[in-house]
Amino acid sequence: MEFSNLPKHRKEQLAQLTTGTSRIVLSLLMGLFGVGLIWSVDSALPPAQEFPEYSQVLPDVPWDYKLFEDVDYANPATTEQVAYGRRLIMETADYLGPNSSKPFAGNNLDCNSCHLDGGTKPFAAPFVTVPSQFPQFRNRENKEGTIQERINGCMQRSMNGRPLPEDSEELAAMVAYMEWLSLDKPRGEKINGNKFLKVNYPDRAVDLKHGEKVYVQHCTTCHQSDGQGQRNPGSNTYLYPPLWGPDSYNHGAGMHRVITAAQFIKGNMPLGTTADEPLLSDEEAYDVAGYINSFARPLKNNPEADFPNKKLKPMSTPYGPWVDPFPAAQHKFGPFGEIAAFYQNEYGLKKSK
Ligand code: HEC
Ligand code: HEC
Repeated sequence: MEFSNLPKHRKEQLAQLTTGTSRIVLSLLMGLFGVGLIWSVDSALPPAQEFPEYSQVLPDVPWDYKLFEDVDYANPATTEQVAYGRRLIMETADYLGPNSSKPFAGNNLDCNSCHLDGGTKPFAAPFVTVPSQFPQFRNRENKEGTIQERINGCMQRSMNGRPLPEDSEELAAMVAYMEWLSLDKPRGEKINGNKFLKVNYPDRAVDLKHGEKVYVQHCTTCHQSDGQGQRNPGSNTYLYPPLWGPDSYNHGAGMHRVITAAQFIKGNMPLGTTADEPLLSDEEAYDVAGYINSFARPLKNNPEADFPNKKLKPMSTPYGPWVDPFPAAQHKFGPFGEIAAFYQNEYGLKKSK
């Protein structure tokens, strides 16, 4: 594959991700071999045509999977780093899981279990343009946080594990991959499809019986009736990830909040669902989100330290303390209308989750 047709700004952006040394090596190599040089590292990356044309499904989502054609073949250091970052995101359990050689994660989920299609699917908390939105003020820590700290937030909660060292190759590779997904997009801006689809949750508590019905009808084929999913043969990763139990996200994870889980589920589940044509109604998503979160799962240690400014805590955070009079069960399963009204009247704060 030739690299001479790459736009100049891309090369510059990618070059910023690598060290000075590799840039010197790179310019030497380019000087020696000229533009005809061919690199074989592309075998580590998926061919572009494996990805569906999302533009056909969601006409106003301003990016597409052609990004994978735009790897900087002129810069193997970067390309390998990006490819490593992608593998870490797609097959986290094999690289960072409890049975891997670097067991930083405490479960066998992949980042891709929730950030679908390697963090490129609209409304599945995609990574496109995310690195350029950091540093960012984070309510959970009540301070400015970096993208590395945000990834480690998911490591300690969604992955029920330990933070990766700030200067680790793995954090650098994941960030490089996210940057690479974002090359074509304006820095600092959020793309359409950022985060999750909105759900108008009903103003009542979760109906667990209804949630179970939805689960049996739409989820058991893949996640199984015991919620434990199914492994990929010959790998630590899952074909269908578990939704509760010891190998799932812990109780401090965003997915453990009913409203966040309902938003993810509505836009993405059953697998294959897209946000422009959700299969589940808002009520079905809300009730099934409550159902999967009604089972036991690992506990995050020291959850009281989360959200130093308790007023900024999402109302659906299922563990205390809170600065409102509502019981734990209501924070977990709703109804949320009166909690939202309380924060509005008492503190002038608008809560959506
Ligand atoms: C169990 C589901 C789950 C898993 C697994 C998971 N995450 Fe997340 N992640 C979330 C949720 C939920 C959010 C919050 C989105 C929001 O702010 O509404 C999030 C947010 C993020 C964000 C910030 C996104 C933004 O738009 O600001 C980054 C970056 C991130 N995760 C990286 C990772 C990485 C890297 C991994 C793997 C090491 C990972 N996550 C694993 C559920 C998950
Ligand atoms: C056709 C198979 C399939 C069906 C049906 C399905 N899922 Fe999933 N689900 C997946 C896969 C696969 C993933 C992980 C994404 C990946 O590996 O690409 C996932 C991920 C998830 C996750 C985030 C990861 C985790 O382990 O927590 C949740 C939550 C979830 N599904 C809930 C549901 C719910 C609720 C339903 C029913 C409404 C459902 N799914 C139906 C295949 C399915």
